[in-house]
Amino acid sequence: MTVTHNSNQDIIGRAEINDVDAILAIPLADPNEVEHVIKNNADTIFTWDYSLSRPPLRKLYEKAKVGQWNGSVDLDWSIEVDVEKTIAQDQLLLGTGLDPSVYADTPVAKWGDKEWLEFGIEGRNWMLSQFLHGEQGALICTAKIVETVPWYDAKLYASTQVMDEARHVEVFARYLQEKLGGEYQVNAHLRMLLDDIVADSRWDMTYLGMQVMVEGLALAAFGFLHQLTGEPLLKQLLRYVMSDEARHVAFGVLSLKEAYDEMTDVEIKDRQEFAFEAAIRMRDRFMQQEVWERMGINTRDIIPLVLADPTRGMFQAMLFSKIVPNCKKLGLLDRNDKWLRRRFEEMNVIQFEDWENTGDEYLKFELGSEVPQPVAGE
Ligand SMILES: [Fe+2]
Ligand SMILES: [Fe+2]
Repeated sequence: MTVTHNSNQDIIGRAEINDVDAILAIPLADPNEVEHVIKNNADTIFTWDYSLSRPPLRKLYEKAKVGQWNGSVDLDWSIEVDVEKTIAQDQLLLGTGLDPSVYADTPVAKWGDKEWLEFGIEGRNWMLSQFLHGEQGALICTAKIVETVPWYDAKLYASTQVMDEARHVEVFARYLQEKLGGEYQVNAHLRMLLDDIVADSRWDMTYLGMQVMVEGLALAAFGFLHQLTGEPLLKQLLRYVMSDEARHVAFGVLSLKEAYDEMTDVEIKDRQEFAFEAAIRMRDRFMQQEVWERMGINTRDIIPLVLADPTRGMFQAMLFSKIVPNCKKLGLLDRNDKWLRRRFEEMNVIQFEDWENTGDEYLKFELGSEVPQPVAGE
């Protein structure tokens, strides 16, 4: 049977992935909104089969039980965070994440040190805020998986992830409130993605959207910031969170491998399209629209330049360094005439396909060991 894929228009709401007008047409979240309600559309499944039939998941469960930590006592909250000093130091090490020459004909060209520092501070606050909202998404998705996954071993493991995510929400929220003075609203594209993940009725889509795509990106982003920042509390916080996060991505990869090996091409097509949609939403998110708005810069003028900025492009590609090998491990890249491979080529992230997948490397992230540096090869 021939499998036909939907068009970009059907999957992401625009024909061209870089259609700036369409990207900006997605409304920003209201900063004053307090509650956001989504139907989760799923069946809750009991299982009476209590046999140990998936040893790799049971091993993860055992690891999770001994890997628990306490965000209120294990992190040193007495550390004073001088935000300006921290950002200035981090910028010295890595620059601003943008190539200033790209912005020559815009108001950004007139920015002095003061504005670049302000941009860095807002950018840090924005990034940690999106981590926070993503963590709440993970908390909700994992609670949903406890109900919807049909496998006993997966229900047990997912319950430990619920506690992990509660801790992550707790520590990011506390850091933002106590050290950075408040948070940004959820990014428009991240919210759209979280809504889609939560609304899908199929249990494996929760995993694919959250454990593989959102958490895969988070693991790469946390690793990057952990390596870069000289702020000791944030470094410590990220180190603890990463030790959990690697397990979570492994949970997604190990569970979906079994499920996807048995799926037909038509079923896999839906998963490939969903992975592509998630990848686009996350790429769109990193244009930091809310930060540009706060800096008083017209997003219609600046976003096309951000899209073309090579420094930005490198950083953005790196965020996919966990997602691409994990999609490959799941067979999603090459099924249906390499459909997802073609999309990742178009997004310039395919170069990570042979990097280590998280189903294999998660043990290296355990507390007490050196954080693994990204390496090529399996
Ligand atoms: Fe998390
Ligand atoms: Fe997680």
